[in-house]
Amino acid sequence: MTTTSSSLLTDLNWRYATKKFDTSKKVSAEDLETIMSAVNLAATSYGLQPFRVMHVQDPAVREKLKAAAYGQPQITDADHLFVFCHLLEVSDEYVDDYIARIAAERNTDVANLKGFGDTIKGSLGNKTSQEVADWTRRQAYIALGHLLVTAATLRVDSCPMEGFDAAAFGEILGLKDQGLGAAVVATVGYRSEEDQLQHAAKVRLPLTELFHTV
Ligand SMILES: Cc1cc2nc3c(=O)[nH]c(=O)nc-3n(C[C@H](O)[C@H](O)[C@H](O)COP(=O)(O)O)c2cc1C
Repeated sequence: MTTTSSSLLTDLNWRYATKKFDTSKKVSAEDLETIMSAVNLAATSYGLQPFRVMHVQDPAVREKLKAAAYGQPQITDADHLFVFCHLLEVSDEYVDDYIARIAAERNTDVANLKGFGDTIKGSLGNKTSQEVADWTRRQAYIALGHLLVTAATLRVDSCPMEGFDAAAFGEILGLKDQGLGAAVVATVGYRSEEDQLQHAAKVRLPLTELFHTV
């Protein structure tokens, strides 16, 4: 990767998908709150935030999740485990609650936002349940990106993870009863000195291959 004077690119080059975490190192409450706030600030379609994040702190639950993630050690060894869960459906009530929050935050009347609410409901009404679930899942990934980038700026390590049995995660965390499905995982903590991958060069396309000018 080219060297750069941009501090954000320096942070992004520092980041890597950590395989082995140092179990003795703890993320400060301040850094954790910054990371969680950055997740909350992710852009979402219409602003609906159709996902929730399980912050799994119970060691026994994390052991079970590790088994459902094919034994990947990051699940138990990282200081924090976040399971990004997407809404399986988006009800009219959910949209109405959102509209009410906009009205409250922006000091306006719900009646002024009726058109916006109807647009959202109309758009969702044109999708199959599978399309809605796929759409909500995609929103969660944008928030995952915020987590990875923000953690890197704080020199906190992370690993994004899709290598898990989503149905088993759903069972263990009781997600279906909450109208949720497991989309993607992020573990957060500090790299172990023994993790050799931290020394590996980044493998990325040249920008000329990634970007196509039309
Ligand atoms: C959606 C997603 C799922 C991933 N799943 C896993 C995983 O289950 N286990 C793992 O160790 N790494 C996982 N990774 C990490 C990738 O392997 C890693 O990001 C990629 O090899 C590029 O390396 P870098 O992130 O270290 O630059 C995942 C990454 C993403 C974005």
